Amino acid sequence: MRSAPLTLLLSTLLCAVGCSDSGGEGGGETGGAGATGGSGGGTASSASTSGSGGGAASSASASGSGGGGTASSASSASTGSAGGGGGGTGGGGDSARVPAASASTLREAGEKANPPILIGAAISGGGLNDANYKRVAAAEHNYVTAENEMKWDSLEPNAGQFSWGAADNIVNWARDNNMKVKGHTLVWHNQLPGWANSLSGAAAVEQAIRRHIVEVMKHFKDRIDTWDVVNEAVLTDSDTGVGNPRMRPSVFFNALGERYLDLAFEIAREQDPSAKLYYNDYSIDALNDKADFVYEMVKGMVERGVPIDGVGFQMHIGPPNNKAGGADVAANLKRFSDLGLDVLISEMDINRCGGQISAEEQLTFYHDIVEACFVLPRCVGITFWGINDGRSWLNSWSGALCNGQSSQSLLFNDQYQKKETYNRVMDALLGR
Ligand code: G3I
Repeated sequence: MRSAPLTLLLSTLLCAVGCSDSGGEGGGETGGAGATGGSGGGTASSASTSGSGGGAASSASASGSGGGGTASSASSASTGSAGGGGGGTGGGGDSARVPAASASTLREAGEKANPPILIGAAISGGGLNDANYKRVAAAEHNYVTAENEMKWDSLEPNAGQFSWGAADNIVNWARDNNMKVKGHTLVWHNQLPGWANSLSGAAAVEQAIRRHIVEVMKHFKDRIDTWDVVNEAVLTDSDTGVGNPRMRPSVFFNALGERYLDLAFEIAREQDPSAKLYYNDYSIDALNDKADFVYEMVKGMVERGVPIDGVGFQMHIGPPNNKAGGADVAANLKRFSDLGLDVLISEMDINRCGGQISAEEQLTFYHDIVEACFVLPRCVGITFWGINDGRSWLNSWSGALCNGQSSQSLLFNDQYQKKETYNRVMDALLGR
């Protein structure tokens, strides 16, 4: 019932001609989603915001005429799932995604949708020592992101010396369970080993970036075909994405300027001509200063012919990050996909620590945000940042205000039982 306004809005946006029934018919209630959307105002005003905030219309024409955009989206069209498990962007066009009639797991709902959509989770090496964790993770998901084990400090702790064990463990477990893996993350200012963080000079930094990308992509070549190439390159005055958006100072930016992004994507493309290469960031989920800045940054890359295939919207909702209502998320995903790019929800959780988000609000956010991605065929996946509340990163993250308590942020409780959040996500995946 709550989903009807957003579904109808998106059907209107997406179904220019002859759209098939996307489900989600029903009530005419408009208050719920609009009231909790955090964007002030209902779906209609949010839709017009999308036009003015960077331009669904102008970006559509840019992607139609831009040579770089066409090349990049062509390379991203192949599904190429190393682990099988379905999903990908194969279907497409402008028609809304058609939901499965029924499903008993999130994974099944994703695989039976047309086109399929990947259902992912961040997986930790520690979690894989827990039989319940492994059971739920494999039953409900077909897409894996290593929570920490593929970051630079894990893979290359000493210059030129690589350590693959922890990452291989996760990747091989994923493949054993017919799950696709996204490599996370090749170039990021955080979780860098000390030696990399203290590099200086353009030549040394470029050499380190090149060696890292080449060796990592070579090692996983036959097992991973999708990469977060650059993560979190943009900063604002607060973690909520508001105020003074700018390139983030880092060892990479300080030595090379903004061109380090182009460089990283170009090196990655040389390693794998058909891999999907993504930019990933937090608090760009809705329409705000940071999202606008990243939109312009990515649009510039597409227009320059930089081989970028998609953008990951982390979707960490609640402290320390932003709030993002379904209609704003929908408008934002749409304008990026109109650049000819894949979009995906890459790290979703909704933090209830500190009581800043009520239980009811959390359910609405989960439903409406998942729906916003689901109805958009170019939205290729939804990854949750963890399996169960007890293992969430938020519990121990100082900015998240959890103080060691459960963030109540995910779809399963500490005993791995399904929560109401799970049911609302399933509703959205089934078009309800
Ligand atoms: O492994 C060490 C352990 O040996 C040590 O005893 C312990 C003491 O603090 O720290 C352990 O490392 C921690 C690591 O997680 C593994 O648990 C780090 O301190 C801690 O900072 C690290 O946090 C990770 C965080 O990234 C770091 O930025 C979270 O688990 C991880 O969920 C989080 O993931 C990021 C994404 O990669 C990018 N987007 C944001 C997202 C959430 O912050």
